[in-house]
Amino acid sequence: MSQSVAQSNSQKLYSSVLRNTSQQEGNNYNQAVHRGNGRYSASSNWSNHSQQRFRATPETNSQQAYLKKNSLESQPIYASGSTPNSTQPQLSTQDWKSALQLPPKDARFKTEDVTATKGNDFEDYYLKRELLMGIFEMGFEKPSPIQEEAIPVALAGRDILARAKNGTGKTAAYLIPVLERVDPKRNSIQALVLVPTRELALQTAHVCKQLGKRIDQLQVMSSTGGTSLRDDILRLYNPVHILVATPGRVLDLAERGVCKLNECKMVVLDEADKLLSMEFTSVLERLIERFLPTNRQLMLFSATFPITVKAFRDRFQRKPYELNLMDELTLKGVTQYYAYVEENKKVACLNAIFSKLQINQSIIFCNSVNRVKLLAKKITELGYSCFYVHARMAQEDRNRVFHDFRNGACRNLVCSDLFTRGIDIQAVNVVINFDFPKNSETYLHRVGRSGRFGHRGLAISMITHDDRLNLYKIEQELATEIAPFPAHVDKSLYCE
Ligand SMILES: Nc1ncnc2c1ncn2[C@@H]1O[C@H](COP(=O)(O)OP(=O)(O)OP(=O)(O)O)[C@@H](O)[C@H]1O
Ligand SMILES: [Mg+2]
Repeated sequence: MSQSVAQSNSQKLYSSVLRNTSQQEGNNYNQAVHRGNGRYSASSNWSNHSQQRFRATPETNSQQAYLKKNSLESQPIYASGSTPNSTQPQLSTQDWKSALQLPPKDARFKTEDVTATKGNDFEDYYLKRELLMGIFEMGFEKPSPIQEEAIPVALAGRDILARAKNGTGKTAAYLIPVLERVDPKRNSIQALVLVPTRELALQTAHVCKQLGKRIDQLQVMSSTGGTSLRDDILRLYNPVHILVATPGRVLDLAERGVCKLNECKMVVLDEADKLLSMEFTSVLERLIERFLPTNRQLMLFSATFPITVKAFRDRFQRKPYELNLMDELTLKGVTQYYAYVEENKKVACLNAIFSKLQINQSIIFCNSVNRVKLLAKKITELGYSCFYVHARMAQEDRNRVFHDFRNGACRNLVCSDLFTRGIDIQAVNVVINFDFPKNSETYLHRVGRSGRFGHRGLAISMITHDDRLNLYKIEQELATEIAPFPAHVDKSLYCE
């Protein structure tokens, strides 16, 4: 029974998606079909146009390899019957390190956003060995700046308010201390990680399971709206130590008395400013005031902290340790351009951009759900393969598109702001604002979908006459330069 809990929503999802993906790959994208579920497929011959760096084979596509690896059950290196704990004392440093199953090294260039560290090692934090193994097996060699700063403070149990750039490793900065401090022998939810979207919850739960895959008996559960409440209730009858959730669902479960949070000593709000926006505040306050213990550790993470966060901090946090690693706001590795264009020329402009660039994978943002679907259709008609996703789609379809895109099944994804925050797809090297965002926070988070972990990327915004003042405002607010799209874009700015 506990095994079925271990296989939480996201794991089931990953395996079902993988099954569906392989079926779909057999279709060869040879017909222009609208299935109404986020996929358009076109009879495009990818190798004929300039989007040719993309190789969706398991061997060469890093996302493929990532998913393939993650879809497997964790495979203990220990002999059956022994647990990591029981084996630990017998293994010398050399033994356990040589037993690690490390992914291939990522030799791509990285900017100072992730390399400007004090030179700490993960071993400096005296983490349990099974956790260290999980960290190294994720391919993490050294902590990033935010991890260096946040991990020791979080391990000490202090409240945190941390701000660091997009893609610099905030997830592991809070998950590593959470995993270290959770005791899998206790049958209770000891940590709650709240995030604003369902896809981000699945992604975060997945990272948590990967980092903690060597920790014996650890149970991580994700719980979000759009899935069966009954299934969540059933799963909560079994041990769960870390719950990664969207606020509405967890409040619902807590109010029904199924989700018991009285022993939940660690609470993380990821994308905290979004969770503290009007959309979520009342739910969040009810959750904290009615269901969480008063002596909990409360950690807030985001790349953007508007002033509204201050009131929450003063009300709910106890002398939080404040970290701000953003001396500048935009990523060093992401080059930003704008293309000045009339509204009815945007698709032609996009076509020109596609033909000029060597896109590995791209995310294209629209400002409304209707435009997402329409644009995906147009892109397909141009001969480029394209998925789309937005919040009004059935959750099952959202999940499938998310995972297929991550899996490298398609080069371009058109979406609404559903994918603006937190979504981590390392193969994305180009972000396009088909519609210019309304504010600088949204702009920053969208642009941050490329250039993950200090890698290089491009962000291109289409600017109409009506957007020009907003472009100026966002440039000012972010103290950054968004240059006109040039006749030629140097490959070294966004490839490898
Ligand atoms: N120490 C590390 N070494 C190598 N890669 C890392 C390390 N820490 C994190 N990463 C990788 O960096 C990528 C970005 O991490 P993450 O999603 O946590 O960023 P983030 O700061 O939360 O970004 P966002 O603000 O967009 O949510 C992930 O693919 C993650 O696996
Ligand atoms: Mg994040």
